[in-house]
Amino acid sequence: KIPANTLFLGKQVVFVPECHSTNTLALQLSHKPSTTEGTVVITNHQTAGRGQRGNTWEAAPGMNLTFSTILRPAFLPVEDQFYLTIAVSLALHDYLGTKTGKPIAIKWPNDILVHEKKICGILIENQVQGSRLTTAVAGIGLNVNQQHFDTPTAMSLIQVTQKEDNLEAVLHGLLECLEARYLQLRRQDHDSLKEAYLSRLYARHEQRRFSSPQETFEGSIRGVDESGRLAVETADGLKYFGIKEVSLLR
Ligand code: BTN
Repeated sequence: KIPANTLFLGKQVVFVPECHSTNTLALQLSHKPSTTEGTVVITNHQTAGRGQRGNTWEAAPGMNLTFSTILRPAFLPVEDQFYLTIAVSLALHDYLGTKTGKPIAIKWPNDILVHEKKICGILIENQVQGSRLTTAVAGIGLNVNQQHFDTPTAMSLIQVTQKEDNLEAVLHGLLECLEARYLQLRRQDHDSLKEAYLSRLYARHEQRRFSSPQETFEGSIRGVDESGRLAVETADGLKYFGIKEVSLLR
């Protein structure tokens, strides 16, 4: 087996054949002081995979990558925590762009799209002490070899490349991209991270329909603010939305 070419990400790997959620397991493990930064928790099958906005995450057992990485971003003030979302999204974008040669987009805040369909979901859960982050669990569900989905908006690597992939090789490639973006974040290279994120943002500057809990409306995505809220130019001017306050309609 060829190990990942990383400094610390994935040097410790906890594999469980089945679990409820690798994010939940990683959060539990992260409380043990012996759990080092970069530990990866990976499974073949999640029975209660969690997504954003309280959604579930479903993936056919053994066909896809389902894992969480334990990070200790003590250098990151709470008010900058969206930069972690930016770094992780960019890492997936980097990896999938190189791997497929296709245009990849990041749908705010952190869905990864290819051909306008979702190939990867990310769930980042932070733990905060005072004004800083202590632990961040970055959970990644990447559809790799699954051919059929219940939802028409899902997509996998094999559907793009027409080739089955070795899950471990994909994991290693991804960990290398993740570590590179994480180190960029650790260097406080916030401006380049933000610029790269914005330039890859799905539907930016396009006139689209959105829905909020109250209404549907037209608007055009301008960017994100420092706390990660989506900035949308609407008929009533520029408005900012948190994750539970808006979704982009198809
Ligand atoms: C989303 O798109 O809503 C986020 C999906 C995140 C899924 C991954 S799979 C590994 C990790 N463990 C979980 O329970 N969720 C994340």
